[in-house]
Amino acid sequence: METFFKNPETVMRELVSYWHDNEDQQKILDGFSENTISNFPMPYGVAPNFVIDNRPYCVPMVIEESSVVAAASSAAKFWMQRGGIKTEIVGVKKIGQVHFKWKGESNRLFGMFDRIQERLIQDTASLTEKMNQRGGGIVGIELLDFTDLEENLYQIKASFHTCDSMGANFINSILEQFAESLKSFLIESPSLKEEERDVLIVMCILSNFTPECTVRAEVSCPIDELGMFPGKMDSKTFAEKFETAVKIAHIDPYRATTHNKGIFNGIDAVVLATGNDFRAVEACGHTYAARDGQYRSLSHCDIKHGIFRFWLEIPLAVGTVGGLTKLHPMARRSLELLGNPSAEELMRVIAATGLAQNFAAVKSLVTTGIQKGHMKMHLKNILAQFNATKEEAEKVKKHFENVVVSYSGVRDFLDKVRLES
Ligand code: MEV
Repeated sequence: METFFKNPETVMRELVSYWHDNEDQQKILDGFSENTISNFPMPYGVAPNFVIDNRPYCVPMVIEESSVVAAASSAAKFWMQRGGIKTEIVGVKKIGQVHFKWKGESNRLFGMFDRIQERLIQDTASLTEKMNQRGGGIVGIELLDFTDLEENLYQIKASFHTCDSMGANFINSILEQFAESLKSFLIESPSLKEEERDVLIVMCILSNFTPECTVRAEVSCPIDELGMFPGKMDSKTFAEKFETAVKIAHIDPYRATTHNKGIFNGIDAVVLATGNDFRAVEACGHTYAARDGQYRSLSHCDIKHGIFRFWLEIPLAVGTVGGLTKLHPMARRSLELLGNPSAEELMRVIAATGLAQNFAAVKSLVTTGIQKGHMKMHLKNILAQFNATKEEAEKVKKHFENVVVSYSGVRDFLDKVRLES
């Protein structure tokens, strides 16, 4: 049999080494996907110092990029000393769509839509019963006409409250039942013409764009309370540079993309740690960032009457029940660490982490530059790779205080230190 690896036996041992010791746990992990041959470990860290709406949090983060967790906790600490991060849930509505083609006159379809809607609600009653009891369910159904863009194309656009679940399965099951009910309604309507009784269901699926499932996280303080910054930068200069940096991310999509990437460094890490769908959250966030036709910053900053204000508004469709949230052993622990939050509370924590991450990145950019912090972490990683002792690490760190860090530079200097001793 052909093998893609140069040394398959070593690779086999390596793959096996990442299996879970506990067979049952491994079965759970394997159950999340298909054709699994091992696990792919990622660092699981915690960012302490978060005070969100006057409550302290230690935020779990799964991320492979150095500096991110340190930056999040340092920004959280900065704001902890200035009243913490305040959040607000702007909405929790999610969207699903049934796309279909119908050949009749559109006003005839709109004319019978009230009756169709009744049928849709009635036929999905058993599916919505439990969610209704929890305070959620279907909150709106509308018919949209796309026939000016595509012949005979219509859409049933429904909105939902899915309580503490992300709700993908709930929404998709309801949409598929809507499609069946629409078909039956038309077939069973004797007053309709032959062609009006027929409908082509193209597809039924939730939309990952949830602009009405949004949270806002904000920090603010008087400019003079911002303190001093590296390079003896005073608080006024800092605040103005920071505000300009955020403006640049509003004006220029090239900067906006990197700026928002920094926000998602924090957001994705918590979304992942809590077993939520980071692809959905990212896709939605980027569409939201481009909602006025140009891709822009998701965060905003202003300075008014001497007050520095920095905030983030972002749609976050996440859950704390269902999906992986309770099945994945580490996701379960993450939620426990956060005090088993509701979906809304988790939205607040995730947005606050995104905001803190963004603050830390832009703060570095407008003061020391990003490389200083990155290189410090890079240096730490290189030293770990070479198994440097504490004394050796001290010498190397001192030497590289004012010298550009590179892998070969550190290796050569470390060789010299080792030869000398
Ligand atoms: C790096 O992962 C993220 C940053 O580039 C974000 C930013 O530029 O704002 C530092």
